[in-house]
Amino acid sequence: MRVVLVGPPGAGKGTQAQIIAERLAIPKVSTGDIFRANISGDTALGQRAKAYMDKGDLVPDEVTNAMVRDRLAEDDAKNGFLLDGFPRNVQQAETLDTMLSDLATELNAVLELVVDEDEVVRRLEGRRTCRKCGHVHHLDYDPPKTEGVCDVCGGELFQRDDDRPETIRRRLEVYREQTAPLVDFYDRRGLLVRIDAIGAVEDVTRRAVKALGVGEAS
Ligand code: AP5
Repeated sequence: MRVVLVGPPGAGKGTQAQIIAERLAIPKVSTGDIFRANISGDTALGQRAKAYMDKGDLVPDEVTNAMVRDRLAEDDAKNGFLLDGFPRNVQQAETLDTMLSDLATELNAVLELVVDEDEVVRRLEGRRTCRKCGHVHHLDYDPPKTEGVCDVCGGELFQRDDDRPETIRRRLEVYREQTAPLVDFYDRRGLLVRIDAIGAVEDVTRRAVKALGVGEAS
């Protein structure tokens, strides 16, 4: 199955993508995660992306598209993938069409996670990510048992640089201006499925798998 997840920053795309991708045994391809791995590794790509990410702007399309093209050509993506954070504007969506047609395949669905802005701000401000394993906690919704320490691996939790209030504001602006139009773009093609993404993580997963027609979550 080939699925795109769309929704504002903090909607829970990464959280759901992880669970759904595991359930469907397909890779989660998160452009944000790939950029952050490159920043941690201090690669040329990471250095270039960081300047945009820290401001809350999109990394230029030519950089992002090339990165996704390479990733989707890898073996583990042959039988499907779940894209988290890509495409993020209409130009990227059109490029994705070309990539998929070059691979002689197409998208099955675009899942929109619907969450209001007050809630996404709460989710982003309280998010804490593990430096070691990447697990994501939330200070109120999913607090770690020990402050500052990841429940999964004991690694150190940190706040993402782009989760500062002024950067969150800019990311939401960018979402409204550049990414939200994708909802209509995919709706016109009959690919869009939309779910309410407020509520417990497990409830949102249940709605997502039902909407995608891939069976009930256990
Ligand atoms: P990216 O990493 O993709 O960030 P984003 O889209 O802003 O999304 P987030 O990762 O902030 O949130 P999320 O929806 O995954 O929520 P999460 O599951 O973590 O991109 C970062 C930057 O990279 C961009 O700004 C851009 O610069 C660049 N970039 C990336 N892709 C690009 C592209 N295609 N083109 C150009 N540039 C690109 O959840 C958030 C919090 O809420 C967590 O703490 C979580 O525990 C909690 N939570 C999750 N679900 C629930 C729930 N149901 N109830 C309560 N809390 C919940």
